Amino acid sequence: MGDLVRLEVDGGIGTIRLDRAPMNALSRQMQEEIRQAAQQAEARHDIRAVIVYGGEKVFAAGADIKEMVGWSYADVATEGAQLQSAFTSVARIGKPTVAAITGYALGGGLELALCCDFRVAGDNAKLGQPEITLGIIPGAGGTQRLPRLVGPARAKDIVFSGRFVGAPEALSIGLVDQVVGPDDVYEQARAMVERYASGPALALRAAKEAIDRGLDVDLSTGLAIERVQFAGLFATEDRTAGMTSFIDSGPGQADFRGR
Ligand code: CAA
Repeated sequence: MGDLVRLEVDGGIGTIRLDRAPMNALSRQMQEEIRQAAQQAEARHDIRAVIVYGGEKVFAAGADIKEMVGWSYADVATEGAQLQSAFTSVARIGKPTVAAITGYALGGGLELALCCDFRVAGDNAKLGQPEITLGIIPGAGGTQRLPRLVGPARAKDIVFSGRFVGAPEALSIGLVDQVVGPDDVYEQARAMVERYASGPALALRAAKEAIDRGLDVDLSTGLAIERVQFAGLFATEDRTAGMTSFIDSGPGQADFRGR
């Protein structure tokens, strides 16, 4: 990848590790390295699930304000699309993904976490969209992905106020899915997706695609997306293995090969 983002692979799980002390501020270079890591995580067959992790102290405190301070409207009008598309590369990984959040997940940091399927947070985590305090709004998907996750009124409260949301509240509104001790965040995130590393990869991909694409369209189009994905799975080896194994040995015994 590069100097600021690594892709570490262990036991079928790829970890996109943000590593830019002290706050993992998301500079342009970092955004590009996140894009590269996400594209590699998507392409590699030995990666079956993905964790996005900022380390033991902080997830990410947002886009790099010191880099942005000198930008003009023209700069942002062109750069803005790059920022969104770098994060969308994470959202488009066709495998289960989880953000392992320690400490701050603010601005672009929270927007990156919103690109994952699930979020595990430490009980010391603070999440928010403080862009309003800088005189701007979220620019990496926050105004779109946040209301889809927690509903429009809660998203407006978080975006209008710029306040930090603590882990218990984040759990209660569905902004995060699990809260654990700060030292256990990464292991808990692994535990959450580990079971998928030996799962039917194409069915998991189809399920994710149907849910994510379906959320962007009307019900009838969503049902059409589901139908196509459903039918396509009948061409996979895992579907044959899954059904044959059920008939021969009962439920939950299939040995999936991800093909
Ligand atoms: N960009 C650049 N530098 C940052 C940063 C950021 N987003 N967040 C923190 N830093 C830097 C600080 O400037 C400081 O640098 P120096 O040591 O050189 O002074 C260092 O990281 C440590 O930060 P603090 O001293 O402020 O640490 P703290 O513990 O007192 O506070 C914090 C931590 C609450 C995260 C605070 O730093 C903060 O509020 N950061 C900014 C959060 C923010 O506004 N994020 C949104 C960015 S805009 C965005 O993300 C747009 C978008 O939608 C893509």
